[in-house]
Amino acid sequence: MNAVTTDALWMPFTANRDFKKKPRIICDAQGHYYTTTDGRRLYDTFSGLWTTGVGHCHPKIVEAVQQQVAKLDYAMTFQMGNDKSFELAERVVDLAPEGFSNVFFTNSGSESVDTALKIALAFHRARGEGHRTRLIGREKGYHGVNFGGMSVGGIVPNRKVFSAALLPGVDHLRHTLDIGRNAFSRGMPAHGAELADDLERLCVLHDGSNIAAVIVEPIVGSAGIIPPPVGYLEKLREICDRHGILLIFDEVIAAFGRVGKAFGAERVGVTPDIITTAKGLTNGVIPMGAVLVQQKIYDAMMQGPEHMVELFHGYTYSGHPVAAAAGIATMDVYEEEGIFEQSMALEDTFADLLHSFADHDKVIDVRNFGLMGAIELAPRDGAPGARGLETHKRCFWEEDLVMRNAMDVLSFSPFLNSKVDEMEQSFEAIRRVVDAID
Ligand SMILES: Cc1ncc(COP(=O)(O)O)c(C=O)c1O
Repeated sequence: MNAVTTDALWMPFTANRDFKKKPRIICDAQGHYYTTTDGRRLYDTFSGLWTTGVGHCHPKIVEAVQQQVAKLDYAMTFQMGNDKSFELAERVVDLAPEGFSNVFFTNSGSESVDTALKIALAFHRARGEGHRTRLIGREKGYHGVNFGGMSVGGIVPNRKVFSAALLPGVDHLRHTLDIGRNAFSRGMPAHGAELADDLERLCVLHDGSNIAAVIVEPIVGSAGIIPPPVGYLEKLREICDRHGILLIFDEVIAAFGRVGKAFGAERVGVTPDIITTAKGLTNGVIPMGAVLVQQKIYDAMMQGPEHMVELFHGYTYSGHPVAAAAGIATMDVYEEEGIFEQSMALEDTFADLLHSFADHDKVIDVRNFGLMGAIELAPRDGAPGARGLETHKRCFWEEDLVMRNAMDVLSFSPFLNSKVDEMEQSFEAIRRVVDAID
Protein backbone atom coordinates (compact mmCIF):
# COMPACT_ATOMS: atom_id res chain seq x y z
CA MET A 1 0.00 0.00 0.00
CA ASN A 2 1.46 3.34 0.98
CA ALA A 3 4.24 4.43 3.26
CA VAL A 4 2.23 7.05 5.13
CA THR A 5 1.89 6.56 8.90
CA THR A 6 -1.55 7.70 9.93
CA ASP A 7 -1.36 7.37 13.75
CA ALA A 8 -0.66 10.95 14.83
CA LEU A 9 -3.27 12.81 12.84
CA TRP A 10 -6.72 13.33 14.37
CA MET A 11 -8.72 13.75 11.20
CA PRO A 12 -11.61 16.24 10.92
CA PHE A 13 -15.18 15.02 10.37
CA THR A 14 -13.81 11.49 9.80
CA ALA A 15 -14.41 8.06 11.30
CA ASN A 16 -10.72 7.92 12.30
CA ARG A 17 -10.51 4.26 13.38
CA ASP A 18 -12.37 3.00 10.34
CA PHE A 19 -10.32 5.20 8.00
CA LYS A 20 -6.98 4.14 9.45
CA LYS A 21 -7.70 0.46 8.77
CA LYS A 22 -7.53 1.21 5.04
CA PRO A 23 -6.50 4.83 4.44
CA ARG A 24 -7.54 6.78 1.37
CA ILE A 25 -4.66 9.22 0.87
CA ILE A 26 -4.10 11.78 -1.87
CA CYS A 27 -0.64 13.16 -2.62
CA ASP A 28 -1.07 14.92 -5.95
CA ALA A 29 -3.71 16.71 -8.02
CA GLN A 30 -3.98 18.20 -11.49
CA GLY A 31 -7.08 19.60 -13.17
CA HIS A 32 -10.02 17.31 -12.46
CA TYR A 33 -8.02 14.38 -11.07
CA TYR A 34 -6.31 13.34 -7.84
CA THR A 35 -3.44 10.87 -7.51
CA THR A 36 -3.27 8.56 -4.49
CA THR A 37 -0.15 7.49 -2.61
CA ASP A 38 -0.50 4.07 -4.26
CA GLY A 39 -0.38 5.70 -7.67
CA ARG A 40 -4.01 5.61 -8.78
CA ARG A 41 -5.68 8.49 -10.63
CA LEU A 42 -9.13 9.42 -9.31
CA TYR A 43 -11.76 11.69 -10.81
CA ASP A 44 -13.00 14.29 -8.30
CA THR A 45 -16.79 14.73 -8.33
CA PHE A 46 -16.72 17.18 -5.43
CA SER A 47 -14.30 19.92 -6.59
CA GLY A 48 -12.25 19.41 -3.45
CA LEU A 49 -14.79 20.18 -0.74
CA TRP A 50 -16.92 22.63 -2.78
CA THR A 51 -13.72 24.63 -2.98
CA THR A 52 -11.84 24.06 -6.20
CA GLY A 53 -14.28 24.98 -8.95
CA VAL A 54 -11.74 25.72 -11.68
CA GLY A 55 -9.78 22.51 -11.08
CA HIS A 56 -6.72 21.59 -9.05
CA CYS A 57 -3.37 23.37 -9.37
CA HIS A 58 -4.60 25.90 -11.91
CA PRO A 59 -1.34 27.26 -13.35
CA LYS A 60 -2.37 30.91 -13.04
CA ILE A 61 -3.22 30.58 -9.34
CA VAL A 62 -0.14 28.47 -8.60
CA GLU A 63 2.08 31.09 -10.22
CA ALA A 64 0.44 33.96 -8.32
CA VAL A 65 0.99 32.17 -5.00
CA GLN A 66 4.60 31.29 -5.83
CA GLN A 67 5.40 34.87 -6.77
CA GLN A 68 3.64 36.40 -3.80
CA VAL A 69 5.20 34.14 -1.17
CA ALA A 70 8.63 35.12 -2.40
CA LYS A 71 7.75 38.85 -2.46
CA LEU A 72 5.69 39.58 0.64
CA ASP A 73 5.09 36.53 2.83
CA TYR A 74 3.27 38.32 5.62
CA ALA A 75 2.64 41.77 7.02
CA MET A 76 0.50 42.81 9.94
CA THR A 77 -2.97 43.92 8.86
CA PHE A 78 -3.93 45.76 12.06
CA GLN A 79 -3.39 49.52 11.66
CA MET A 80 -1.52 48.88 8.40
CA GLY A 81 -2.24 46.82 5.32
CA ASN A 82 -0.88 44.93 2.34
CA ASP A 83 -1.56 45.92 -1.25
CA LYS A 84 -3.06 42.57 -2.27
CA SER A 85 -5.78 42.60 0.38
CA PHE A 86 -7.07 45.98 -0.81
CA GLU A 87 -6.98 44.82 -4.42
CA LEU A 88 -8.90 41.63 -3.68
CA ALA A 89 -11.52 43.53 -1.67
CA GLU A 90 -12.16 45.77 -4.70
CA ARG A 91 -12.44 42.75 -6.98
CA VAL A 92 -14.94 41.01 -4.71
CA VAL A 93 -17.07 44.15 -4.29
CA ASP A 94 -17.10 44.58 -8.08
CA LEU A 95 -18.67 41.13 -8.42
CA ALA A 96 -21.13 41.53 -5.54
CA PRO A 97 -24.82 42.40 -5.86
CA GLU A 98 -25.68 46.07 -5.88
CA GLY A 99 -25.36 47.85 -2.54
CA PHE A 100 -22.46 45.78 -1.20
CA SER A 101 -19.57 48.11 -0.52
CA ASN A 102 -17.12 46.48 1.88
CA VAL A 103 -15.37 43.22 2.63
CA PHE A 104 -13.94 41.88 5.90
CA PHE A 105 -11.42 39.06 5.42
CA THR A 106 -11.27 35.89 7.51
CA ASN A 107 -9.58 32.50 7.09
CA SER A 108 -12.51 30.12 6.73
CA GLY A 109 -16.24 29.81 6.38
CA SER A 110 -16.65 29.29 10.12
CA GLU A 111 -14.81 32.51 10.85
CA SER A 112 -16.85 34.33 8.22
CA VAL A 113 -20.06 33.26 9.92
CA ASP A 114 -18.94 34.26 13.41
CA THR A 115 -17.68 37.56 12.00
CA ALA A 116 -21.02 38.20 10.27
CA LEU A 117 -22.98 37.53 13.48
CA LYS A 118 -20.71 39.91 15.41
CA ILE A 119 -21.04 42.58 12.73
CA ALA A 120 -24.84 42.26 12.93
CA LEU A 121 -24.80 42.83 16.71
CA ALA A 122 -22.31 45.70 16.43
CA PHE A 123 -24.32 47.36 13.65
CA HIS A 124 -27.52 47.46 15.68
CA ARG A 125 -25.71 48.74 18.74
CA ALA A 126 -24.01 51.46 16.71
CA ARG A 127 -27.45 52.65 15.63
CA GLY A 128 -28.78 52.74 19.18
CA GLU A 129 -30.60 49.40 18.88
CA GLY A 130 -28.42 47.38 21.22
CA HIS A 131 -31.55 45.54 22.36
CA ARG A 132 -31.45 43.56 19.11
CA THR A 133 -29.45 40.61 20.37
CA ARG A 134 -31.34 37.54 19.26
CA LEU A 135 -30.08 35.44 16.35
CA ILE A 136 -32.14 33.11 14.20
CA GLY A 137 -30.81 30.12 12.27
CA ARG A 138 -32.57 27.18 10.70
CA GLU A 139 -32.79 23.44 11.25
CA LYS A 140 -30.37 21.57 8.96
CA GLY A 141 -28.33 24.75 8.47
CA TYR A 142 -24.55 24.40 8.40
CA HIS A 143 -22.63 27.50 9.37
CA GLY A 144 -19.33 26.00 10.35
CA VAL A 145 -18.08 24.71 13.65
CA ASN A 146 -17.20 27.73 15.79
CA PHE A 147 -19.49 28.59 18.68
CA GLY A 148 -21.54 31.18 16.81
CA GLY A 149 -21.98 29.14 13.64
CA MET A 150 -22.64 25.98 15.62
CA SER A 151 -25.32 27.75 17.65
CA VAL A 152 -27.25 29.08 14.67
CA GLY A 153 -26.58 25.84 12.78
CA GLY A 154 -29.06 23.04 12.78
CA ILE A 155 -27.23 19.77 12.16
CA VAL A 156 -27.87 17.71 15.26
CA PRO A 157 -24.61 15.69 15.63
CA ASN A 158 -22.61 18.91 15.29
CA ARG A 159 -24.44 20.42 18.25
CA LYS A 160 -25.45 17.72 20.67
CA VAL A 161 -22.13 17.17 22.48
CA PHE A 162 -21.75 20.91 22.97
CA SER A 163 -25.32 21.78 23.86
CA ALA A 164 -24.41 23.34 27.20
CA ALA A 165 -22.13 25.78 25.44
CA LEU A 166 -24.41 26.96 22.65
CA LEU A 167 -25.04 30.70 22.48
CA PRO A 168 -28.11 31.89 24.37
CA GLY A 169 -30.84 33.83 22.57
CA VAL A 170 -30.88 31.71 19.42
CA ASP A 171 -33.96 30.26 17.71
CA HIS A 172 -34.34 28.12 14.61
CA LEU A 173 -36.77 28.21 11.74
CA ARG A 174 -37.99 24.81 10.58
CA HIS A 175 -36.05 23.33 7.67
CA THR A 176 -37.63 23.14 4.24
CA LEU A 177 -36.84 19.55 3.24
CA ASP A 178 -40.19 17.97 2.42
CA ILE A 179 -39.71 14.74 0.50
CA GLY A 180 -43.40 13.94 0.92
CA ARG A 181 -44.48 16.91 -1.18
CA ASN A 182 -41.38 17.82 -3.17
CA ALA A 183 -39.55 14.58 -4.04
CA PHE A 184 -37.62 14.64 -7.33
CA SER A 185 -38.17 18.37 -7.94
CA ARG A 186 -35.80 19.89 -10.46
CA GLY A 187 -34.41 23.10 -8.99
CA MET A 188 -36.55 24.98 -6.50
CA PRO A 189 -39.43 22.86 -5.15
CA ALA A 190 -42.98 24.14 -5.39
CA HIS A 191 -44.02 23.60 -1.77
CA GLY A 192 -42.84 25.22 1.44
CA ALA A 193 -42.79 29.03 1.06
CA GLU A 194 -45.15 29.20 4.04
CA LEU A 195 -42.34 27.87 6.29
CA ALA A 196 -40.82 31.36 6.17
CA ASP A 197 -43.73 32.43 8.38
CA ASP A 198 -41.84 30.76 11.25
CA LEU A 199 -39.89 34.00 11.35
CA GLU A 200 -43.07 36.02 11.77
CA ARG A 201 -44.05 33.78 14.69
CA LEU A 202 -40.67 34.37 16.35
CA CYS A 203 -41.17 38.10 15.85
CA VAL A 204 -44.47 37.81 17.71
CA LEU A 205 -42.92 35.68 20.46
CA HIS A 206 -39.84 37.82 21.12
CA ASP A 207 -40.99 41.05 19.51
CA GLY A 208 -39.18 41.66 16.24
CA SER A 209 -37.34 44.61 17.78
CA ASN A 210 -35.21 42.19 19.81
CA ILE A 211 -33.99 40.19 16.82
CA ALA A 212 -30.65 41.13 15.27
CA ALA A 213 -30.29 38.78 12.32
CA VAL A 214 -31.48 35.71 10.49
CA ILE A 215 -28.88 33.51 8.83
CA VAL A 216 -29.62 30.90 6.18
CA GLU A 217 -27.80 29.17 3.36
CA PRO A 218 -29.77 30.31 0.28
CA ILE A 219 -29.32 26.74 -0.98
CA VAL A 220 -28.58 24.28 1.84
CA GLY A 221 -25.35 22.40 1.11
CA SER A 222 -23.89 20.18 3.82
CA ALA A 223 -27.21 18.79 5.06
CA GLY A 224 -27.81 17.30 1.62
CA ILE A 225 -28.58 20.00 -0.98
CA ILE A 226 -31.93 21.54 -0.18
CA PRO A 227 -32.91 24.26 -2.67
CA PRO A 228 -35.27 26.91 -1.27
CA PRO A 229 -38.97 26.47 -2.03
CA VAL A 230 -40.29 28.91 -4.64
CA GLY A 231 -41.06 32.22 -2.89
CA TYR A 232 -39.47 31.24 0.46
CA LEU A 233 -36.46 33.55 0.41
CA GLU A 234 -38.58 36.47 -0.84
CA LYS A 235 -40.84 35.96 2.15
CA LEU A 236 -37.91 35.88 4.60
CA ARG A 237 -36.61 39.12 3.04
CA GLU A 238 -39.99 40.79 3.39
CA ILE A 239 -40.41 39.79 7.06
CA CYS A 240 -36.85 40.92 7.86
CA ASP A 241 -37.54 44.29 6.23
CA ARG A 242 -40.77 44.74 8.13
CA HIS A 243 -39.04 44.15 11.49
CA GLY A 244 -35.65 45.77 10.87
CA ILE A 245 -33.84 42.41 11.03
CA LEU A 246 -30.66 41.81 9.05
CA LEU A 247 -30.74 38.94 6.57
CA ILE A 248 -27.47 37.04 6.24
CA PHE A 249 -26.90 34.63 3.36
CA ASP A 250 -24.22 32.08 4.13
CA GLU A 251 -22.71 31.63 0.68
CA VAL A 252 -19.60 29.72 1.68
CA ILE A 253 -20.69 27.20 -0.95
CA ALA A 254 -23.03 29.20 -3.20
CA ALA A 255 -20.74 32.11 -4.06
CA PHE A 256 -18.31 32.26 -6.98
CA GLY A 257 -20.11 30.35 -9.68
CA ARG A 258 -21.45 27.29 -7.90
CA VAL A 259 -24.97 28.32 -8.93
CA GLY A 260 -24.05 29.96 -12.22
CA LYS A 261 -23.54 33.51 -10.98
CA ALA A 262 -20.93 35.30 -8.90
CA PHE A 263 -23.24 35.09 -5.88
CA GLY A 264 -26.15 32.87 -4.98
CA ALA A 265 -28.14 36.00 -4.07
CA GLU A 266 -28.03 37.10 -7.69
CA ARG A 267 -29.24 33.71 -8.86
CA VAL A 268 -32.12 33.40 -6.41
CA GLY A 269 -33.09 37.03 -6.94
CA VAL A 270 -33.10 38.03 -3.27
CA THR A 271 -30.56 40.45 -1.82
CA PRO A 272 -29.44 39.95 1.79
CA ASP A 273 -27.71 42.53 3.99
CA ILE A 274 -24.60 40.45 4.66
CA ILE A 275 -23.00 37.61 2.67
CA THR A 276 -20.46 35.15 4.06
CA THR A 277 -18.03 33.38 1.73
CA ALA A 278 -14.83 31.28 1.71
CA LYS A 279 -13.95 28.21 -0.45
CA GLY A 280 -14.23 29.54 -4.03
CA LEU A 281 -12.70 32.87 -2.97
CA THR A 282 -9.25 31.36 -3.56
CA ASN A 283 -10.31 28.17 -5.37
CA GLY A 284 -9.40 26.47 -2.08
CA VAL A 285 -5.71 27.00 -2.70
CA ILE A 286 -5.02 29.06 0.44
CA PRO A 287 -7.53 29.21 3.31
CA MET A 288 -9.46 32.48 3.17
CA GLY A 289 -12.96 33.73 3.82
CA ALA A 290 -14.76 37.03 3.40
CA VAL A 291 -17.80 38.79 4.80
CA LEU A 292 -19.48 41.26 2.46
CA VAL A 293 -21.66 44.01 3.89
CA GLN A 294 -24.04 46.53 2.45
CA GLN A 295 -22.98 50.18 2.47
CA LYS A 296 -25.49 51.06 5.25
CA ILE A 297 -23.73 48.62 7.60
CA TYR A 298 -20.22 49.91 6.97
CA ASP A 299 -21.42 53.52 7.20
CA ALA A 300 -23.21 52.92 10.49
CA MET A 301 -20.02 51.49 11.97
CA MET A 302 -17.82 54.41 10.85
CA GLN A 303 -18.60 56.72 13.74
CA GLY A 304 -17.06 57.92 16.98
CA PRO A 305 -13.57 59.41 17.34
CA GLU A 306 -11.58 58.79 14.16
CA HIS A 307 -8.52 57.54 16.00
CA MET A 308 -10.54 54.71 17.57
CA VAL A 309 -10.90 51.20 16.16
CA GLU A 310 -14.52 50.90 14.97
CA LEU A 311 -14.88 47.10 15.19
CA PHE A 312 -12.83 45.24 17.78
CA HIS A 313 -12.52 42.13 15.68
CA GLY A 314 -9.99 40.61 13.29
CA TYR A 315 -7.61 37.72 12.76
CA THR A 316 -3.81 37.65 12.55
CA TYR A 317 -4.26 36.36 9.02
CA SER A 318 -7.18 38.57 7.90
CA GLY A 319 -6.23 39.64 4.36
CA HIS A 320 -3.06 37.50 4.32
CA PRO A 321 -1.07 38.63 1.27
CA VAL A 322 -0.49 35.12 -0.14
CA ALA A 323 -4.16 34.20 0.27
CA ALA A 324 -5.16 37.53 -1.27
CA ALA A 325 -2.84 36.91 -4.23
CA ALA A 326 -4.49 33.52 -4.71
CA GLY A 327 -7.87 35.26 -4.53
CA ILE A 328 -6.96 37.85 -7.15
CA ALA A 329 -5.66 35.17 -9.52
CA THR A 330 -8.86 33.18 -8.91
CA MET A 331 -10.99 36.22 -9.82
CA ASP A 332 -8.88 36.60 -12.99
CA VAL A 333 -9.52 32.96 -13.93
CA TYR A 334 -13.26 33.32 -13.28
CA GLU A 335 -13.35 36.30 -15.62
CA GLU A 336 -10.89 35.28 -18.33
CA GLU A 337 -12.23 31.74 -18.72
CA GLY A 338 -15.92 32.64 -18.39
CA ILE A 339 -16.22 30.20 -15.50
CA PHE A 340 -19.63 31.35 -14.25
CA GLU A 341 -21.04 31.04 -17.75
CA GLN A 342 -19.51 27.57 -18.12
CA SER A 343 -21.09 26.59 -14.81
CA MET A 344 -24.51 27.81 -15.92
CA ALA A 345 -24.19 25.97 -19.25
CA LEU A 346 -23.50 22.65 -17.45
CA GLU A 347 -26.57 22.82 -15.22
CA ASP A 348 -29.05 21.01 -17.45
CA THR A 349 -26.69 18.13 -18.21
CA PHE A 350 -25.91 17.79 -14.52
CA ALA A 351 -29.60 17.84 -13.61
CA ASP A 352 -30.37 15.21 -16.27
CA LEU A 353 -27.64 12.93 -14.95
CA LEU A 354 -28.84 13.26 -11.36
CA HIS A 355 -32.50 12.78 -12.20
CA SER A 356 -31.72 9.69 -14.28
CA PHE A 357 -31.52 8.01 -10.83
CA ALA A 358 -35.13 8.90 -10.02
CA ASP A 359 -36.47 5.47 -10.94
CA HIS A 360 -33.77 3.52 -9.06
CA ASP A 361 -35.31 1.34 -6.35
CA LYS A 362 -32.76 2.45 -3.72
CA VAL A 363 -33.32 6.17 -4.39
CA ILE A 364 -35.93 8.17 -2.46
CA ASP A 365 -35.18 11.69 -3.72
CA VAL A 366 -33.04 13.68 -6.14
CA ARG A 367 -32.43 17.38 -5.60
CA ASN A 368 -30.43 19.95 -7.55
CA PHE A 369 -29.76 23.63 -7.94
CA GLY A 370 -26.96 25.09 -10.05
CA LEU A 371 -24.01 22.72 -9.77
CA MET A 372 -25.13 21.42 -6.38
CA GLY A 373 -26.83 18.05 -6.49
CA ALA A 374 -27.95 15.16 -4.30
CA ILE A 375 -29.16 11.61 -4.76
CA GLU A 376 -30.75 10.42 -1.52
CA LEU A 377 -30.65 6.67 -0.91
CA ALA A 378 -33.16 4.86 1.25
CA PRO A 379 -31.36 4.01 4.50
CA ARG A 380 -30.52 0.38 5.13
CA ASP A 381 -32.73 -1.08 7.86
CA GLY A 382 -31.21 -0.32 11.26
CA ALA A 383 -28.06 1.25 9.76
CA PRO A 384 -28.69 4.79 8.56
CA GLY A 385 -25.65 6.19 6.76
CA ALA A 386 -24.16 2.77 5.94
CA ARG A 387 -25.22 2.76 2.29
CA GLY A 388 -23.85 6.25 1.76
CA LEU A 389 -20.44 5.49 3.27
CA GLU A 390 -20.21 2.20 1.41
CA THR A 391 -20.95 4.03 -1.84
CA HIS A 392 -18.14 6.50 -1.08
CA LYS A 393 -15.64 3.72 -0.34
CA ARG A 394 -16.55 1.55 -3.30
CA CYS A 395 -16.32 4.56 -5.62
CA PHE A 396 -12.84 5.26 -4.25
CA TRP A 397 -11.50 1.70 -4.45
CA GLU A 398 -13.40 0.20 -7.36
CA GLU A 399 -14.28 3.13 -9.65
CA ASP A 400 -11.38 5.57 -9.12
CA LEU A 401 -13.87 8.22 -8.13
CA VAL A 402 -13.97 10.64 -5.21
CA MET A 403 -17.54 11.33 -4.17
CA ARG A 404 -18.97 12.60 -0.90
CA ASN A 405 -21.80 11.21 1.16
CA ALA A 406 -23.67 12.93 3.97
CA MET A 407 -25.21 9.90 5.69
CA ASP A 408 -27.25 8.32 2.86
CA VAL A 409 -27.27 11.41 0.69
CA LEU A 410 -24.78 11.23 -2.19
CA SER A 411 -23.74 14.83 -2.76
CA PHE A 412 -22.17 16.26 -5.89
CA SER A 413 -20.27 19.46 -6.52
CA PRO A 414 -18.81 19.10 -10.00
CA PHE A 415 -16.13 21.38 -11.37
CA LEU A 416 -17.50 24.62 -12.78
CA ASN A 417 -15.57 23.82 -15.97
CA SER A 418 -16.38 20.08 -16.04
CA LYS A 419 -16.11 18.17 -19.28
CA VAL A 420 -19.46 16.60 -20.15
CA ASP A 421 -17.99 13.18 -21.01
CA GLU A 422 -16.16 13.00 -17.68
CA MET A 423 -19.29 14.01 -15.84
CA GLU A 424 -21.28 11.34 -17.68
CA GLN A 425 -18.68 8.67 -16.94
CA SER A 426 -18.66 9.57 -13.26
CA PHE A 427 -22.43 9.04 -13.02
CA GLU A 428 -22.15 5.72 -14.89
CA ALA A 429 -19.69 4.66 -12.19
CA ILE A 430 -22.02 5.87 -9.43
CA ARG A 431 -24.83 3.82 -10.95
CA ARG A 432 -22.70 0.67 -10.99
CA VAL A 433 -21.96 1.15 -7.30
CA VAL A 434 -25.53 1.99 -6.28
CA ASP A 435 -26.69 -1.10 -8.20
CA ALA A 436 -24.11 -3.26 -6.44
CA ILE A 437 -24.56 -2.24 -2.78
CA ASP A 438 -27.13 -4.05 -0.60
C1 LIG B 1 -22.58 27.18 4.27
C2 LIG B 1 -21.31 26.94 5.02
N1 LIG B 1 -20.96 27.77 6.00
C3 LIG B 1 -19.82 27.62 6.68
C4 LIG B 1 -18.96 26.58 6.41
C5 LIG B 1 -17.72 26.40 7.20
O1 LIG B 1 -16.58 26.65 6.45
P1 LIG B 1 -15.14 26.18 6.96
O2 LIG B 1 -15.14 24.70 6.94
O3 LIG B 1 -14.21 26.81 5.95
O4 LIG B 1 -14.96 26.75 8.31
C6 LIG B 1 -19.28 25.69 5.40
C7 LIG B 1 -18.39 24.57 5.06
O5 LIG B 1 -18.70 23.71 4.27
C8 LIG B 1 -20.49 25.85 4.68
O6 LIG B 1 -20.86 25.01 3.73
